Amino acid sequence: MPELANRMQRIKGSAIDAVAQKVRGLKEQGQEVINFSIGVPNFLPPERVYEAAREDIDHDQGTYLPGRGTKELVQAFQLRMKEDGFEYREEEIVSGLGGKHVLFNLMIALLNAGDEVLIPTPYWTTYADQVKLLGGEPIFLASPAAQNYKITPEQLEDAIGPKTRILLFNNPSNPTGMVYGEDEVQALGNLLEKHDIWVISDDIYYRILFDGQSFHHLLKTNPSLRERTVIVHSISKSYGMPGWRVGMAAGPEAVVKALINLNTTSCTHVPAVAMAAAAAAFAGPQDFVDEQCREFEQKRERVMASMERIEAADCPRPGGGFYVFPDISRVFGRTYKNQTIRDGTHLAQLLLDDKRVALVPGEAFGDPNGVRISYALPSETLEEGLSRLEEFFGDTE
Ligand SMILES: Cc1ncc(COP(=O)(O)O)c(C=O)c1O
Repeated sequence: MPELANRMQRIKGSAIDAVAQKVRGLKEQGQEVINFSIGVPNFLPPERVYEAAREDIDHDQGTYLPGRGTKELVQAFQLRMKEDGFEYREEEIVSGLGGKHVLFNLMIALLNAGDEVLIPTPYWTTYADQVKLLGGEPIFLASPAAQNYKITPEQLEDAIGPKTRILLFNNPSNPTGMVYGEDEVQALGNLLEKHDIWVISDDIYYRILFDGQSFHHLLKTNPSLRERTVIVHSISKSYGMPGWRVGMAAGPEAVVKALINLNTTSCTHVPAVAMAAAAAAFAGPQDFVDEQCREFEQKRERVMASMERIEAADCPRPGGGFYVFPDISRVFGRTYKNQTIRDGTHLAQLLLDDKRVALVPGEAFGDPNGVRISYALPSETLEEGLSRLEEFFGDTE
């Protein structure tokens, strides 16, 4: 067989998917596993979304649609953005096959080989792989638990150099659930104003906020960044619709045009039925999102209570999302049932083998001291999973 393209050696595929795959395998063998690994919100959208999808099927035109997305989708998204205080014209909006695809297209559109992309760490696994695949250089800005998993303006300043092309800013963050406050956003924004680089603002968790907090955005604190900022959204997390694969971008017209060209060169457009469903999610009352958010908030309390009981875990309290990312490095070198725990990957393996609990080692997020726990599980399963985790750590010595 002839060889694959060289670029394929730069990526390994999603480490999160690899854990999910293992869990599927165990389940197929009839094993019961508590799955803290995959980032799915575990709720379904309201009936209006399904009605819109059925309606779309009933009125199928049997034709191709615009690469930007249907007018209905674009307008529904515009309305959503407007209600959140962001004004975007139709020409400044485009859809894609999920946030992941939108981000990938953005990398193709904005990166030249050798360009540097600044990525605060811990980061969502896919960012670094996308950058590498396209010949870019990920530059990681370490923000460990001791720093509350947030970067500082000084760090950003130090990292920006002549080859810097993009800052990838994800707030609230996957995998940590950390949320930047207004002053923190403004301080980063003030610095970014001085440097002519692109900002990709991955806002896909923006509605999942706790403690009555508001969402603070770079474009609100520093509106002059608008001409070089692209906002990325998705229906996956806020609306419980990961399988529908719809993501959105709002940004400068030239970037949006490039993304449309990429759509029409690759996938043509997002499937019609998914666009109809997404439009219905964006339009209309959003109270189901808020209800869901309250449920996540209660679950966060439950998870944090366990984290406090686990002496080896140092877990900054998340302000949003549905993840926690405890630093568990204190347990490395201790033993569990006569096995010395080498690192987070080994710990995740022991947990899966012995307790049938799956989580993702921090290595996948560029912070090997932590592990990610995705806690959007039904309450009983969550309880059971947390007590197994507590037992595991309690049995280390
Ligand atoms: C930070 C972040 N960005 C983007 C995505 C992509 O989501 P999707 O492709 O499902 O829209 C995810 C999914 O886990 C994520 O966590």
